[in-house]
Amino acid sequence: MKIAILTSGGDSAGMNAVVRAVVKVGILKGCETWVVREGYEGLVRGNTEALSEQSLDEEPVDLPDNTSPDGTSFNLIHNLRFGDGDLLKDGTGDHPGTRSLKGRYIVRVGFDDVRAWFAEGGTLIGTARSKTFRTPEGRLQAAYNMIKEGLDALVVCGGDGSLTGADVFRAEWPKLVEALQSEGRITAEKAKLHAHLRIVGLVGSIDNDMSMTDLTIGAPTALHRICEAIDNINSTATSHSRAFVLEVMGRHCGWLALLAGVSGGADFIFIPERPPTSESWEDEMCECIHRHREVGKRKTIVIVAEGATDRDLNPIKADHVKDVLTERLGLDTRVTTLGHTQRGGRPCAYDRVLPTLQGMEAVETLLEATPTSPSYMIGIQENKITRVPLMEAVAMTRAVSAAIEAKDFEKAMSYRDPEFKE
Ligand code: F6P
Repeated sequence: MKIAILTSGGDSAGMNAVVRAVVKVGILKGCETWVVREGYEGLVRGNTEALSEQSLDEEPVDLPDNTSPDGTSFNLIHNLRFGDGDLLKDGTGDHPGTRSLKGRYIVRVGFDDVRAWFAEGGTLIGTARSKTFRTPEGRLQAAYNMIKEGLDALVVCGGDGSLTGADVFRAEWPKLVEALQSEGRITAEKAKLHAHLRIVGLVGSIDNDMSMTDLTIGAPTALHRICEAIDNINSTATSHSRAFVLEVMGRHCGWLALLAGVSGGADFIFIPERPPTSESWEDEMCECIHRHREVGKRKTIVIVAEGATDRDLNPIKADHVKDVLTERLGLDTRVTTLGHTQRGGRPCAYDRVLPTLQGMEAVETLLEATPTSPSYMIGIQENKITRVPLMEAVAMTRAVSAAIEAKDFEKAMSYRDPEFKE
Protein backbone atom coordinates (compact mmCIF):
# COMPACT_ATOMS: atom_id res chain seq x y z
CA MET A 1 0.00 0.00 0.00
CA LYS A 2 1.17 3.53 -0.74
CA ILE A 3 0.08 5.90 2.00
CA ALA A 4 0.03 9.68 1.76
CA ILE A 5 -0.40 11.90 4.78
CA LEU A 6 -1.38 15.54 4.94
CA THR A 7 -2.10 18.08 7.65
CA SER A 8 -4.93 20.51 7.10
CA GLY A 9 -6.66 23.48 8.75
CA GLY A 10 -5.09 25.33 11.67
CA ASP A 11 -1.82 23.75 12.79
CA SER A 12 -1.59 22.15 16.20
CA ALA A 13 1.23 20.78 18.30
CA GLY A 14 1.56 17.04 17.70
CA MET A 15 0.87 17.09 13.97
CA ASN A 16 4.52 16.29 13.25
CA ALA A 17 4.35 13.39 15.66
CA VAL A 18 1.39 12.07 13.64
CA VAL A 19 3.40 12.27 10.41
CA ARG A 20 6.36 10.57 12.06
CA ALA A 21 4.25 7.75 13.48
CA VAL A 22 2.40 7.09 10.23
CA VAL A 23 5.62 7.11 8.21
CA LYS A 24 7.52 4.85 10.58
CA VAL A 25 4.70 2.40 11.24
CA GLY A 26 3.74 2.43 7.57
CA ILE A 27 7.26 1.47 6.54
CA LEU A 28 7.49 -1.20 9.24
CA LYS A 29 4.25 -2.68 7.91
CA GLY A 30 5.65 -2.82 4.38
CA CYS A 31 4.00 0.29 2.93
CA GLU A 32 5.48 3.17 0.96
CA THR A 33 4.96 6.48 2.70
CA TRP A 34 4.49 9.95 1.22
CA VAL A 35 3.77 13.38 2.60
CA VAL A 36 1.56 15.95 0.92
CA ARG A 37 2.82 19.47 1.53
CA GLU A 38 0.48 22.39 2.21
CA GLY A 39 -2.60 20.28 3.00
CA TYR A 40 -5.21 19.63 0.31
CA GLU A 41 -3.70 22.43 -1.74
CA GLY A 42 -0.64 20.23 -2.26
CA LEU A 43 -2.83 17.36 -3.38
CA VAL A 44 -4.38 19.61 -6.03
CA ARG A 45 -1.04 21.05 -7.16
CA GLY A 46 0.69 17.65 -7.25
CA ASN A 47 4.12 17.24 -8.78
CA THR A 48 4.91 19.36 -11.77
CA GLU A 49 8.68 18.96 -11.67
CA ALA A 50 10.88 15.89 -11.54
CA LEU A 51 12.71 15.22 -8.30
CA SER A 52 16.00 17.06 -8.53
CA GLU A 53 19.04 14.86 -8.19
CA GLN A 54 21.75 17.32 -9.02
CA SER A 55 21.87 18.96 -5.63
CA LEU A 56 22.82 15.60 -4.15
CA ASP A 57 26.14 15.78 -6.00
CA GLU A 58 27.08 18.99 -4.26
CA GLU A 59 29.17 19.28 -1.14
CA PRO A 60 27.46 16.99 1.41
CA VAL A 61 26.05 18.56 4.52
CA ASP A 62 25.85 16.93 7.87
CA LEU A 63 22.89 14.67 7.25
CA PRO A 64 22.20 11.73 9.53
CA ASP A 65 23.10 8.23 8.41
CA ASN A 66 20.38 6.31 6.76
CA THR A 67 19.30 3.78 9.32
CA SER A 68 15.84 3.13 7.99
CA PRO A 69 14.87 -0.57 8.15
CA ASP A 70 13.86 -0.54 4.50
CA GLY A 71 16.74 1.65 3.41
CA THR A 72 14.52 4.60 2.52
CA SER A 73 15.70 8.08 3.17
CA PHE A 74 15.08 10.78 0.68
CA ASN A 75 17.25 13.49 2.18
CA LEU A 76 14.30 15.78 2.41
CA ILE A 77 14.68 16.56 6.04
CA HIS A 78 16.33 19.93 5.56
CA ASN A 79 13.94 21.18 2.94
CA LEU A 80 10.88 20.04 4.83
CA ARG A 81 12.20 21.69 7.96
CA PHE A 82 13.38 24.99 6.56
CA GLY A 83 11.45 24.88 3.38
CA ASP A 84 12.08 25.83 -0.17
CA GLY A 85 8.45 25.35 -0.67
CA ASP A 86 6.04 27.57 1.13
CA LEU A 87 3.21 28.75 -1.03
CA LEU A 88 4.62 32.24 -1.44
CA LYS A 89 8.23 31.69 -2.39
CA ASP A 90 8.17 28.28 -3.89
CA GLY A 91 11.51 26.91 -4.99
CA THR A 92 13.95 29.24 -3.26
CA GLY A 93 16.52 28.42 -0.64
CA ASP A 94 17.52 24.88 -1.59
CA HIS A 95 20.11 23.47 0.70
CA PRO A 96 23.06 21.56 -0.73
CA GLY A 97 22.80 17.85 -0.16
CA THR A 98 19.03 17.87 -0.10
CA ARG A 99 16.60 17.34 -2.91
CA SER A 100 14.72 20.30 -4.20
CA LEU A 101 11.01 20.32 -3.46
CA LYS A 102 10.28 22.96 -6.04
CA GLY A 103 7.09 22.05 -7.90
CA ARG A 104 6.70 18.92 -5.81
CA TYR A 105 3.92 18.73 -3.30
CA ILE A 106 3.59 14.96 -3.00
CA VAL A 107 6.87 13.66 -1.71
CA ARG A 108 8.04 10.20 -0.76
CA VAL A 109 9.60 10.07 2.69
CA GLY A 110 11.54 7.53 4.67
CA PHE A 111 12.48 6.93 8.27
CA ASP A 112 15.24 9.52 8.44
CA ASP A 113 13.10 12.24 6.96
CA VAL A 114 10.87 12.26 10.01
CA ARG A 115 13.45 11.53 12.66
CA ALA A 116 12.74 13.40 15.95
CA TRP A 117 9.71 15.13 14.51
CA PHE A 118 7.76 14.40 17.71
CA ALA A 119 9.41 17.37 19.41
CA GLU A 120 8.67 19.95 16.70
CA GLY A 121 5.84 22.47 16.92
CA GLY A 122 3.38 23.30 14.14
CA THR A 123 3.42 21.14 11.04
CA LEU A 124 6.62 20.78 9.06
CA ILE A 125 4.81 19.60 5.94
CA GLY A 126 2.72 22.76 5.91
CA THR A 127 -0.98 23.36 6.03
CA ALA A 128 -3.30 25.58 4.04
CA ARG A 129 -7.00 26.29 3.83
CA SER A 130 -7.47 25.19 0.23
CA LYS A 131 -10.26 26.76 -1.79
CA THR A 132 -9.52 24.71 -4.90
CA PHE A 133 -10.04 21.37 -3.15
CA ARG A 134 -13.57 22.51 -2.32
CA THR A 135 -14.41 22.55 -6.03
CA PRO A 136 -15.17 19.37 -8.05
CA GLU A 137 -12.40 20.35 -10.53
CA GLY A 138 -9.93 20.64 -7.67
CA ARG A 139 -10.84 17.22 -6.34
CA LEU A 140 -10.58 15.72 -9.83
CA GLN A 141 -7.07 17.09 -10.15
CA ALA A 142 -6.23 15.84 -6.65
CA ALA A 143 -7.42 12.33 -7.60
CA TYR A 144 -5.34 12.47 -10.77
CA ASN A 145 -2.25 13.53 -8.82
CA MET A 146 -2.69 10.72 -6.33
CA ILE A 147 -3.15 8.10 -9.03
CA LYS A 148 -0.18 9.48 -10.95
CA GLU A 149 2.00 8.83 -7.91
CA GLY A 150 0.36 5.43 -7.39
CA LEU A 151 -1.13 6.38 -4.01
CA ASP A 152 -4.06 4.39 -2.69
CA ALA A 153 -4.47 5.57 0.88
CA LEU A 154 -4.75 8.96 2.54
CA VAL A 155 -4.28 9.98 6.17
CA VAL A 156 -5.67 13.41 7.03
CA CYS A 157 -4.86 15.18 10.26
CA GLY A 158 -7.04 18.24 10.86
CA GLY A 159 -10.30 19.54 12.27
CA ASP A 160 -13.87 18.62 11.35
CA GLY A 161 -13.83 20.56 8.05
CA SER A 162 -10.66 18.82 6.92
CA LEU A 163 -11.98 15.39 7.88
CA THR A 164 -15.26 16.04 6.09
CA GLY A 165 -13.22 16.95 3.01
CA ALA A 166 -11.54 13.55 3.21
CA ASP A 167 -14.85 11.73 3.45
CA VAL A 168 -16.33 13.66 0.52
CA PHE A 169 -13.22 12.84 -1.52
CA ARG A 170 -13.53 9.16 -0.74
CA ALA A 171 -17.26 9.07 -1.51
CA GLU A 172 -16.66 10.77 -4.84
CA TRP A 173 -13.59 8.73 -5.67
CA PRO A 174 -15.19 6.13 -8.01
CA LYS A 175 -16.79 8.94 -10.03
CA LEU A 176 -13.53 10.85 -10.17
CA VAL A 177 -11.69 7.77 -11.41
CA GLU A 178 -14.36 7.18 -14.02
CA ALA A 179 -14.10 10.80 -15.20
CA LEU A 180 -10.32 10.62 -15.41
CA GLN A 181 -10.56 7.46 -17.48
CA SER A 182 -13.19 8.85 -19.82
CA GLU A 183 -11.10 12.00 -20.30
CA GLY A 184 -8.23 9.71 -21.27
CA ARG A 185 -6.03 10.96 -18.43
CA ILE A 186 -5.60 7.51 -16.90
CA THR A 187 -5.70 4.06 -18.44
CA ALA A 188 -8.39 1.45 -17.78
CA GLU A 189 -5.77 -0.61 -15.99
CA LYS A 190 -4.95 2.28 -13.63
CA ALA A 191 -8.64 2.97 -13.11
CA LYS A 192 -9.13 -0.64 -12.03
CA LEU A 193 -6.09 -0.57 -9.78
CA HIS A 194 -7.31 2.61 -8.07
CA ALA A 195 -11.00 1.76 -7.90
CA HIS A 196 -11.17 2.65 -4.18
CA LEU A 197 -9.51 5.12 -1.90
CA ARG A 198 -8.69 4.24 1.68
CA ILE A 199 -8.81 7.15 4.08
CA VAL A 200 -8.50 7.70 7.80
CA GLY A 201 -8.74 10.87 9.87
CA LEU A 202 -6.91 12.02 12.98
CA VAL A 203 -8.12 15.07 14.82
CA GLY A 204 -5.51 17.80 15.02
CA SER A 205 -6.98 20.87 16.69
CA ILE A 206 -6.17 22.91 19.77
CA ASP A 207 -9.87 23.52 20.35
CA ASN A 208 -10.79 20.00 21.53
CA ASP A 209 -14.09 20.51 19.77
CA MET A 210 -14.59 17.14 18.09
CA SER A 211 -17.30 14.86 19.38
CA MET A 212 -16.74 11.13 19.97
CA THR A 213 -13.19 11.64 21.15
CA ASP A 214 -12.06 12.84 24.55
CA LEU A 215 -9.05 14.76 23.33
CA THR A 216 -7.78 16.23 20.08
CA ILE A 217 -4.12 16.44 19.13
CA GLY A 218 -2.68 19.80 20.21
CA ALA A 219 -5.30 20.61 22.85
CA PRO A 220 -3.16 19.49 25.82
CA THR A 221 -0.23 21.66 24.66
CA ALA A 222 -2.45 24.70 24.13
CA LEU A 223 -3.99 24.19 27.56
CA HIS A 224 -0.54 23.94 29.09
CA ARG A 225 0.49 27.15 27.33
CA ILE A 226 -2.55 29.03 28.70
CA CYS A 227 -1.97 27.61 32.14
CA GLU A 228 1.62 28.88 32.13
CA ALA A 229 0.42 32.29 30.93
CA ILE A 230 -2.06 32.47 33.80
CA ASP A 231 0.71 31.56 36.26
CA ASN A 232 2.78 34.43 34.88
CA ILE A 233 -0.12 36.84 35.00
CA ASN A 234 -1.04 35.73 38.51
CA SER A 235 2.22 36.98 39.92
CA THR A 236 2.03 40.43 38.34
CA ALA A 237 -1.70 40.65 39.11
CA THR A 238 -1.06 39.84 42.76
CA SER A 239 1.78 42.36 42.97
CA HIS A 240 -0.47 45.21 41.81
CA SER A 241 -3.72 43.80 43.14
CA ARG A 242 -5.02 44.00 39.58
CA ALA A 243 -7.67 42.25 37.53
CA PHE A 244 -6.83 40.56 34.24
CA VAL A 245 -9.21 39.50 31.53
CA LEU A 246 -7.74 36.78 29.33
CA GLU A 247 -9.17 35.95 25.94
CA VAL A 248 -8.35 32.42 24.89
CA MET A 249 -8.85 30.51 21.64
CA GLY A 250 -11.22 27.62 21.04
CA ARG A 251 -13.49 28.85 18.26
CA HIS A 252 -17.01 27.71 19.29
CA CYS A 253 -15.76 25.43 22.03
CA GLY A 254 -15.18 26.37 25.66
CA TRP A 255 -12.88 23.48 26.59
CA LEU A 256 -9.65 25.49 26.63
CA ALA A 257 -11.21 28.34 28.60
CA LEU A 258 -12.89 26.06 31.11
CA LEU A 259 -9.92 23.84 31.82
CA ALA A 260 -7.48 26.76 31.84
CA GLY A 261 -9.74 28.48 34.35
CA VAL A 262 -9.81 25.45 36.58
CA SER A 263 -6.07 24.82 36.35
CA GLY A 264 -5.11 28.50 36.73
CA GLY A 265 -7.53 29.46 39.50
CA ALA A 266 -9.76 31.88 37.57
CA ASP A 267 -12.51 33.80 39.31
CA PHE A 268 -14.99 33.78 36.43
CA ILE A 269 -15.12 31.97 33.07
CA PHE A 270 -17.21 32.65 29.98
CA ILE A 271 -17.74 29.75 27.56
CA PRO A 272 -20.09 29.39 24.57
CA GLU A 273 -21.84 26.27 25.87
CA ARG A 274 -23.02 27.82 29.15
CA PRO A 275 -23.87 31.42 28.33
CA PRO A 276 -25.21 33.74 31.00
CA THR A 277 -28.30 35.85 30.42
CA SER A 278 -27.68 39.24 28.89
CA GLU A 279 -29.42 40.98 31.82
CA SER A 280 -27.60 39.23 34.61
CA TRP A 281 -24.02 38.38 33.66
CA GLU A 282 -22.49 41.67 34.68
CA ASP A 283 -24.15 41.47 38.11
CA GLU A 284 -23.24 37.80 38.56
CA MET A 285 -19.62 38.40 37.65
CA CYS A 286 -19.29 41.48 39.83
CA GLU A 287 -20.92 39.80 42.83
CA CYS A 288 -18.63 36.81 42.53
CA ILE A 289 -15.49 38.89 42.18
CA HIS A 290 -16.53 41.27 44.93
CA ARG A 291 -16.97 38.23 47.22
CA HIS A 292 -13.51 36.95 46.34
CA ARG A 293 -11.98 40.35 47.00
CA GLU A 294 -13.80 40.63 50.34
CA VAL A 295 -12.20 37.45 51.61
CA GLY A 296 -8.80 38.90 50.81
CA LYS A 297 -7.96 37.88 47.24
CA ARG A 298 -5.47 40.37 45.79
CA LYS A 299 -5.91 39.45 42.16
CA THR A 300 -8.72 38.68 39.76
CA ILE A 301 -8.61 36.51 36.67
CA VAL A 302 -11.51 36.34 34.23
CA ILE A 303 -11.26 34.04 31.24
CA VAL A 304 -13.28 34.72 28.11
CA ALA A 305 -13.44 32.04 25.42
CA GLU A 306 -13.20 33.66 21.99
CA GLY A 307 -16.63 32.25 21.10
CA ALA A 308 -18.34 33.32 24.35
CA THR A 309 -21.74 34.96 24.07
CA ASP A 310 -24.70 35.68 26.29
CA ARG A 311 -27.92 33.68 25.97
CA ASP A 312 -29.08 35.93 23.15
CA LEU A 313 -25.88 35.13 21.29
CA ASN A 314 -24.43 38.64 21.72
CA PRO A 315 -20.65 38.21 21.87
CA ILE A 316 -19.02 38.77 25.25
CA LYS A 317 -15.76 40.56 24.57
CA ALA A 318 -12.75 40.92 26.84
CA ASP A 319 -12.68 44.72 26.50
CA HIS A 320 -16.27 45.01 27.63
CA VAL A 321 -15.60 42.72 30.61
CA LYS A 322 -12.64 44.95 31.48
CA ASP A 323 -14.83 48.07 31.39
CA VAL A 324 -17.37 46.44 33.69
CA LEU A 325 -14.69 45.46 36.21
CA THR A 326 -13.16 48.93 36.10
CA GLU A 327 -16.34 50.90 36.29
CA ARG A 328 -18.38 48.80 38.70
CA LEU A 329 -15.72 47.40 41.00
CA GLY A 330 -13.05 50.06 40.58
CA LEU A 331 -10.47 47.41 39.72
CA ASP A 332 -7.31 48.32 37.87
CA THR A 333 -7.91 45.95 34.94
CA ARG A 334 -5.86 44.81 31.95
CA VAL A 335 -6.75 42.64 28.97
CA THR A 336 -4.39 39.95 27.67
CA THR A 337 -5.16 38.18 24.41
CA LEU A 338 -2.93 35.13 24.21
CA GLY A 339 -3.51 34.61 20.47
CA HIS A 340 -1.29 32.24 18.55
CA THR A 341 1.16 31.71 21.41
CA GLN A 342 -1.43 29.12 22.45
CA ARG A 343 -1.10 27.22 19.19
CA GLY A 344 2.58 27.19 18.36
CA GLY A 345 5.65 25.76 20.01
CA ARG A 346 6.85 22.38 21.18
CA PRO A 347 4.27 19.73 21.96
CA CYS A 348 3.94 18.64 25.56
CA ALA A 349 4.60 14.97 26.30
CA TYR A 350 0.98 13.95 25.89
CA ASP A 351 0.86 15.56 22.43
CA ARG A 352 3.69 13.22 21.46
CA VAL A 353 2.23 10.07 22.99
CA LEU A 354 -1.33 10.54 21.71
CA PRO A 355 -0.37 11.13 18.05
CA THR A 356 2.07 8.24 18.19
CA LEU A 357 -0.58 5.80 19.41
CA GLN A 358 -3.18 7.22 17.06
CA GLY A 359 -0.79 7.22 14.10
CA MET A 360 -0.16 3.51 14.68
CA GLU A 361 -3.89 2.87 14.80
CA ALA A 362 -4.39 4.91 11.62
CA VAL A 363 -2.05 2.65 9.64
CA GLU A 364 -3.77 -0.49 11.02
CA THR A 365 -7.12 1.02 10.05
CA LEU A 366 -5.98 1.62 6.48
CA LEU A 367 -4.59 -1.89 6.18
CA GLU A 368 -7.91 -3.35 7.34
CA ALA A 369 -10.13 -1.01 5.29
CA THR A 370 -12.54 -2.51 2.77
CA PRO A 371 -14.49 -0.72 0.02
CA THR A 372 -17.63 -0.96 2.14
CA SER A 373 -16.24 -0.03 5.55
CA PRO A 374 -16.97 3.53 6.67
CA SER A 375 -14.26 6.16 6.77
CA TYR A 376 -12.87 6.10 10.27
CA MET A 377 -11.64 8.76 12.62
CA ILE A 378 -9.10 7.75 15.23
CA GLY A 379 -10.01 9.04 18.67
CA ILE A 380 -9.42 8.32 22.33
CA GLN A 381 -12.17 7.46 24.78
CA GLU A 382 -11.63 6.59 28.41
CA ASN A 383 -7.93 6.30 27.74
CA LYS A 384 -8.32 3.80 24.92
CA ILE A 385 -7.49 4.54 21.31
CA THR A 386 -10.69 4.19 19.28
CA ARG A 387 -11.94 4.01 15.71
CA VAL A 388 -15.25 5.75 15.14
CA PRO A 389 -17.15 6.40 11.92
CA LEU A 390 -15.79 9.75 10.85
CA MET A 391 -19.05 11.25 9.63
CA GLU A 392 -20.88 10.31 12.83
CA ALA A 393 -18.31 12.26 14.80
CA VAL A 394 -18.50 15.20 12.40
CA ALA A 395 -22.32 15.17 12.49
CA MET A 396 -22.34 15.22 16.28
CA THR A 397 -19.77 18.02 16.34
CA ARG A 398 -21.91 20.08 13.98
CA ALA A 399 -24.99 19.31 16.08
CA VAL A 400 -23.32 21.08 19.01
CA SER A 401 -22.88 24.27 16.97
CA ALA A 402 -26.43 23.97 15.61
CA ALA A 403 -27.82 23.58 19.14
CA ILE A 404 -25.90 26.66 20.30
CA GLU A 405 -27.17 28.63 17.31
CA ALA A 406 -30.70 27.51 18.18
CA LYS A 407 -30.02 28.64 21.78
CA ASP A 408 -30.63 25.09 23.02
CA PHE A 409 -27.69 25.07 25.40
CA GLU A 410 -28.78 21.99 27.34
CA LYS A 411 -28.73 20.01 24.13
CA ALA A 412 -25.33 21.43 23.20
CA MET A 413 -23.92 20.32 26.53
CA SER A 414 -25.49 16.89 26.22
CA TYR A 415 -23.74 16.44 22.86
CA ARG A 416 -20.45 17.56 24.36
CA ASP A 417 -20.91 15.30 27.37
CA PRO A 418 -23.72 12.70 27.27
CA GLU A 419 -23.47 12.32 31.07
CA PHE A 420 -23.78 16.04 31.70
CA LYS A 421 -26.33 17.01 34.38
CA GLU A 422 -27.24 20.51 35.48
O1 F6P B 1 -9.08 26.05 15.28
C1 F6P B 1 -7.90 26.52 15.83
C2 F6P B 1 -7.91 28.02 16.01
O2 F6P B 1 -6.70 28.40 16.62
C3 F6P B 1 -9.10 28.55 16.78
O3 F6P B 1 -8.97 28.40 18.18
C4 F6P B 1 -9.13 29.98 16.31
O4 F6P B 1 -10.45 30.47 16.36
C5 F6P B 1 -8.66 29.89 14.89
O5 F6P B 1 -8.00 28.65 14.75
C6 F6P B 1 -7.74 30.99 14.46
O6 F6P B 1 -7.50 30.84 13.11
P1 F6P B 1 -6.35 31.63 12.33
O7 F6P B 1 -5.04 31.04 12.75
O8 F6P B 1 -6.63 31.38 10.90
O9 F6P B 1 -6.44 33.05 12.74
